[in-house]
Amino acid sequence: KTYKPCDLVIFGALGDLSRRKLLISLYRLENANLIEPDTRIIGIDRHDGNDEEFVETARKSLQEFSSEPVQDAVWARFSARLSYVKIDLTRLDEYRLLNTVTDNKTRVLVNYFAVAPFLFKDICQGLAKCGVLTKESRMVMEKPIGNDLESSIEINDVVASVFSEDQVFRIDHYLGKETVLNLLALRFANSIFTTNWNHNTIDHIQITVAEEVGIEGRWDYFDKTGQLRDMLQNHLLQILTFIAMEPPVNLEAKSIHSEKIKVLKALRPITSSNVDEKTVRGQYTGGFIKGQAVPGYLEEDGANVVSKAETFVALRVDIDNWRWASVPFYLRTGKRLMGKRTEIVVYFKQLPHNIFKDSFRDLPPNKLIIHLQPNEGVEIEMLNKIPGIDEHIKLQKTRLDLSFSDAFKKNRIFGGYEKLVLEAMRGNPTLFLSREEIEQAWTWIDSIQDAWKHYNESPKAYPAGTWGPIASVALLARDGRAWEE
Ligand code: BG6
Repeated sequence: KTYKPCDLVIFGALGDLSRRKLLISLYRLENANLIEPDTRIIGIDRHDGNDEEFVETARKSLQEFSSEPVQDAVWARFSARLSYVKIDLTRLDEYRLLNTVTDNKTRVLVNYFAVAPFLFKDICQGLAKCGVLTKESRMVMEKPIGNDLESSIEINDVVASVFSEDQVFRIDHYLGKETVLNLLALRFANSIFTTNWNHNTIDHIQITVAEEVGIEGRWDYFDKTGQLRDMLQNHLLQILTFIAMEPPVNLEAKSIHSEKIKVLKALRPITSSNVDEKTVRGQYTGGFIKGQAVPGYLEEDGANVVSKAETFVALRVDIDNWRWASVPFYLRTGKRLMGKRTEIVVYFKQLPHNIFKDSFRDLPPNKLIIHLQPNEGVEIEMLNKIPGIDEHIKLQKTRLDLSFSDAFKKNRIFGGYEKLVLEAMRGNPTLFLSREEIEQAWTWIDSIQDAWKHYNESPKAYPAGTWGPIASVALLARDGRAWEE
């Protein structure tokens, strides 16, 4: 389906986000013929430069950060869209240059704020002052949208002074991942799951977002942030809302947003009275990842040796509503873990009676395992009879295994940014976050952060290349459960 062409203006076009993610995603969309022929990409940054140099930067970014070879014909089309304007984002009078390079009559102005939030106010004011914005214009931003509720309100207020809520596209790149979206299909298009998706059949749910990478040279950002705010406030809570929400009435943004907010509102607060039983904080020490020695968090470049920032967090989350009464969700995420693995494991309840005692004293529960990355797919663990003519029926655990790359051989799995940048250009808000969602998520996260501050304990050490501190095993063991390994 075609959409009105855009003038996509990237503020911070020479920065990290633009070079590592945006330009590459746009090139891939070009390759897939998904960018409207008349759409233009306008890079804005404070450094001197011209169109040719920006084209060169884009080409270098592709070489550096993307594994695919650049195709000449695609590159010719793509590079013809690029132009560059030098603007010091703090000088409001300089924004008038945008009038000469954009055209808000034949194109929709999509403003991508790929800069730190402290510049948002200036950009909003500069845009408003120079008069390029129309009701159709959009703005795109992504985390960190604040570091707590108060700072996120500040950012949202600044943006709201110029853009109405339906013009604002807040990105969480996990919502662009194919398998996160597939949760909607899995849950709401398959009767075997729709009818069983509640406390009657489900015992508990685990969400793991394990990373192999460390903090990748971002000490300053990460040390102020920690894993709870860097990963859990956004990506894990987004996955959680998709698993836990009630069926939306349709797939429109408002319907989905309102169901997700209800889940966030039902999260049982974690406070200083229960933070000890419900959360585990960890910090990696030196260790080995795939046989390679890696430094500990406190030895990373730029490290402040007394830091208590957590690089691992595990939580028990309870959702106080009818569907999930007494079904805990266990969430864990950490840097420098044994492998990169994002998965959801739904543990179904044990059967009330076992007639196969010869095979299992207790029948193991069925499990639904959703692999979000890598190797996207879905598995169901179930019991089957071992073929044979033994006197007694013998059972064994077996897995139905659906790998997306096998099932959909002809379809490429698009990256999160590709999908989201395209949806922002198309003007489809479904996969973006509403202001209320973000603020609700911060409210819940802030109470955990406050409880941690109250105790001021050091995070538990775990060697790089493991699954995190032992205390994370104990978190589940207390409830008679164990992490999926
Ligand atoms: C980012 C975090 O939002 O997500 C990073 O800031 C993290 O710290 C990254 O490494 C993980 O994303 P992905 O897509 O590789 O799972």
